[in-house]
Amino acid sequence: MTRAKHPHPPTDDADLLKRAASSWQPDVWKTGEGGRAHVLKTYERSHVLLRKTVCAWLIRREARNLRILEGINGVPQYIGRPAPWTLEMTWLDAEHMPEMKHSMEPEWFDDLAVLLRKIHRRGLNFGDLRRKNLMRSRVDGSPCLVDFAQCMHEPDTSSLFHRIVMRRAFATDDATLLKLKKWYCGGPKLTPEEQVLARNPPRHLRFGRWMKRGLYAPLMRLLGAKPRRRRKKKKRR
Ligand SMILES: Nc1ncnc2c1ncn2[C@@H]1O[C@H](COP(=O)(O)OP(=O)(O)O)[C@@H](O)[C@H]1O
Ligand SMILES: [Mg+2]
Repeated sequence: MTRAKHPHPPTDDADLLKRAASSWQPDVWKTGEGGRAHVLKTYERSHVLLRKTVCAWLIRREARNLRILEGINGVPQYIGRPAPWTLEMTWLDAEHMPEMKHSMEPEWFDDLAVLLRKIHRRGLNFGDLRRKNLMRSRVDGSPCLVDFAQCMHEPDTSSLFHRIVMRRAFATDDATLLKLKKWYCGGPKLTPEEQVLARNPPRHLRFGRWMKRGLYAPLMRLLGAKPRRRRKKKKRR
């Protein structure tokens, strides 16, 4: 599929936050300055067939989720959809997480758990809790989350879908958070209950991880899509 090689800035002062690596991904721009800055997430460089179908659906979905989360601190606020394949939201003055193990305090992850709980209470799971979507506010250090396209929504807690799917999705968010907390704070800093939970992740999650490691990753490598990540050698002193 042909696509414009270079992302086209939506305004003269726009900064590119993330460049799309494929037709399935958006370019993410920051426009404006300071507290009034906005973020534009756009699939305008995707192939027209994708842009008008899958990408427009993803943007619609993320817009819906941001509207549901309105008023929660630490998530972007929905502004609008300037085009069916473009989403506009508030900019969070936040930085990415450090890449160093054992470099953070457990209390920060307790705040993140509170943020996740607020999201769950609105009937949404997060579903993609990883470093690229997790940020730390430059203003007060609090946790922030971006990228809400993948969240599922089911506010009716008595529905079958909620009982079968959403509860597991919430448990997946909690277990992923615990994994991050362990990595960033070290096992001994977890509470005794957390240490037990970290040793026994939910069964559906273990199955998912096994599928990813044993089936998905080798298949992607076979197709040449996902090169094996090399472990960095430790520097000798
Ligand atoms: N509202 C926002 N405020 C600040 N930075 C953001 C915001 N939205 C996205 N970003 C930045 O852009 C990057 C990519 O955005 P994301 O929504 O995760 O795109 P993708 O769906 O391609 O993963 C994030 O990792 C973050 O650095
Ligand atoms: Mg992302």
